[in-house]
Amino acid sequence: MVVGTQWGDEGKGRFTDLLSRQMDMVVRYQGGHNAGHTLVVDGQTFKLQLVPSGVLYPHVTPVIGNGVVIDPMVLIDEMDRLAEAGVDCGRLKVSGNAHLIFPYHQALDVVAERHLGRNKLGTTKRGIGPAYADKAARVGLRVQDLLDPKIFREKLGVVLHEKNPLLAKVYNRLPFDLETLATQYLEECRPRIEPHIADTVGLLHDALEAGQNLLFEGAQAMFLDLDHGTYPFVTSSNPVAGGVCVGAGIGPRHVDRVIGVTKAYISRVGSGPFPSELTDEVGDRLVDVGREYGTNTKRRRRCGWLDTVMLRHAVRVNSLSDLAITKLDVLDALDPIKVCVAYEVDGQRRSSMPYHQSEIHRASPIFEELPGWGTDLSAVSDRAKLPGEAEDYLRFIEEQAGVPATLVSVGPGRDQFIAFSPVP
Ligand code: GDP
Ligand code: IMO
Ligand code: MG
Repeated sequence: MVVGTQWGDEGKGRFTDLLSRQMDMVVRYQGGHNAGHTLVVDGQTFKLQLVPSGVLYPHVTPVIGNGVVIDPMVLIDEMDRLAEAGVDCGRLKVSGNAHLIFPYHQALDVVAERHLGRNKLGTTKRGIGPAYADKAARVGLRVQDLLDPKIFREKLGVVLHEKNPLLAKVYNRLPFDLETLATQYLEECRPRIEPHIADTVGLLHDALEAGQNLLFEGAQAMFLDLDHGTYPFVTSSNPVAGGVCVGAGIGPRHVDRVIGVTKAYISRVGSGPFPSELTDEVGDRLVDVGREYGTNTKRRRRCGWLDTVMLRHAVRVNSLSDLAITKLDVLDALDPIKVCVAYEVDGQRRSSMPYHQSEIHRASPIFEELPGWGTDLSAVSDRAKLPGEAEDYLRFIEEQAGVPATLVSVGPGRDQFIAFSPVP
């Protein structure tokens, strides 16, 4: 598994792409098109939202599991864009049990945020939260419903009966027309999605029994997890490693390696606490050098120093076996480099994550300073060629985390990485 250990955008896509070389299937198990995973291959950039990052390899079967929420228009658009770039999505499998996102989900996401005013979550406004809410409320429509127009219309009618008055009377928005939506989904989307619909749980288990290699690609990250993140400033799914069991239908004993993708510093888009946040010119430097603008929403990401209180918590909750550290090159010109190793909360030093949200809001970072290396790392591909200070920084992270770093990236390109242990 590949999971994010921070607030997203750690570089999960680029390492999923790299590890996909040796995989038979690459599987998304949660989230939706709130994700934006960037792959840079031979100078060509791919921004993926729903299609798993293994799609570039013709031998890989990309799978969208039951735990994902799918806007079919977005998926079709993404498949078309990939086809234009010469990437065939014919092998893509989509779970019939995955839930569908509708335009009313997006409309509700937008108005709910507006309603919250200055307490807004800063969602991606893609309808993700409302779609998962309908799933939990058992009024969601699933991909398999596209295959039965009568049932599809019936279910949609029931949902609109509730959503339309809510949109019109509470939020003063236009209602949605049943026939317009049904036509769009059943006549425009269904023919494009139907060839991909599959029993993905059966497919994954057949592959496991045949001894194939499966890679699960997390979207979002540990601290955006609905249960383990900085609630309510989270997404509405479970990106943590445990999410794979529910979101793909795999028992925990099948997962033998969990790679925690960790940016050499931290970024966050949207609202919520961020103890090691930098609001000074160093933060601006990280945004500029790291190009920290949202892959989809183009929003400026908030940046801060690496936080090992968070990292240790991510190691525990995800049972991380190792770390993949990204964007080390972004720190090239910084000196000193700081790492948050503990928090001060109400005058007390805390080296583990407070469970109480108010304490996380009140936490101030306790930093250790490490010397910078002042060298361009972007062409380093061999650990032995890393400057001593960079090696020390990585060792410091490993010690703090208690698990080894096995991959380190020094640029966005597929080949811009250093393998600390052989890449499988
Ligand atoms: P994801 O959502 O976790 O897959 O990450 P994103 O793709 O949203 O954000 C990571 C960004 O950093 C992308 O623009 C990548 O191309 C870029 N990136 C990934 N690894 C590196 C790296 O080692 N160095 C630099 N400079 N950029 C990187
Ligand atoms: P990847 O997979 C970074 C954030 C949003 C917002 C919160 C809730 O590219 O790492 P949502 O639309 O999910 O209800 O928004 O979660 N968020 C992400 N931040 N990377 C992502 O995905 C994100 N997906 C959601 O900015 O704060
Ligand atoms: Mg991203």
